[in-house]
Amino acid sequence: MKGAGEAGGAPEASGKIARAADTVTARVPAKLNLQLAVGPQRADGYHDLVTVFHAVSLFDEVTVEPAARDAVTVTGEGADRVPGDQDNLALRAVAALRSAVRDSDAAAGVHVTISKRIPVAAGLAGGSADAAAALVACNELWASGLSQQQLREVGSRVGSDVAFALLGGTVVGRGRGEQLTPALAAATQYHWVLAFANGQLSTPEVYAALDRLRAVRAGDPGGPESPRGSAAAAQAEQQAPDLDAALMSALRSGDARLVGRALSNDLQPAAVSLFPPLRKTLTVGLELGALGALVAGSGPTCMFLAANAERALELAVSLSGAGVCRSVARVAGPVPGAAVVATPQ
Ligand code: C5P
Repeated sequence: MKGAGEAGGAPEASGKIARAADTVTARVPAKLNLQLAVGPQRADGYHDLVTVFHAVSLFDEVTVEPAARDAVTVTGEGADRVPGDQDNLALRAVAALRSAVRDSDAAAGVHVTISKRIPVAAGLAGGSADAAAALVACNELWASGLSQQQLREVGSRVGSDVAFALLGGTVVGRGRGEQLTPALAAATQYHWVLAFANGQLSTPEVYAALDRLRAVRAGDPGGPESPRGSAAAAQAEQQAPDLDAALMSALRSGDARLVGRALSNDLQPAAVSLFPPLRKTLTVGLELGALGALVAGSGPTCMFLAANAERALELAVSLSGAGVCRSVARVAGPVPGAAVVATPQ
């Protein structure tokens, strides 16, 4: 367990604590990107994206309760690597919601307890998920009555993936990833195996590595670092990315085989360049019968699509026996976004 950290940003509990007995718990899923197309870096340092988000059944739980001042306790998977101070995204979400609602219940502090199952810095948006869960839970605790759309607006100021963690499902993201539109998809449950790596990747470093790879390719088209290997490809990457028609058609058909073939992630070459063992993990997963294999987000988790639940179990057992990852998990998607699970009286 990580010790409670002081957030510093919240006032002392001088105001009333209207619902002092309450605690509220919200559950929130991890995300995968079925497509992650990255445009050039923008003036604000972010990259314009076109992505297909997909929420899967690997959940963190976030509990909020009134306290003298804002603080966070983190337990579970990778807890010692989650910031316990104001850098914690869940605490930043609490502060953002407080300034958005400005009512008297929100004036008091909040103790946030995060129970982690989503690995930290793994490409699965665990930090954004915790921020989304904290927003949903505090909205309930304070009876603030913000709509989901309003929570998404608050959340997208905290992190690019927070809006999606609130929504869940299978959704197209644009802009930094915060502009969401539903993806037309058949009501298919997809079965995934996640291979967790022995290590972490920093999202900004992976984006920076992609920019470097692209710069090399633009100067030396067709060089060995080039996955597509042509000046035309390098030039195309400098323009706004497009939604992949093959993936969207696969999702409409609900055919896992077609979805597996259409998975894509522009960050994958960058993640593999920073974490070379991922190449082998991906290859072994495909050799073991996965319908598709991809680095998840900025990595280093790898995601494998299986034809059904039974194949996913076989793949998980074989992958963990192959010694190409730290551990594996079987998950299904899509699942809904952050939601309150318990509000004791
Ligand atoms: O928004 P968030 O804090 O999750 O982003 C983390 C980092 O990932 C950013 O600081 C940026 O370096 C990179 N990023 C990006 N373009 C995006 C999303 C994230 O460059 N659309």
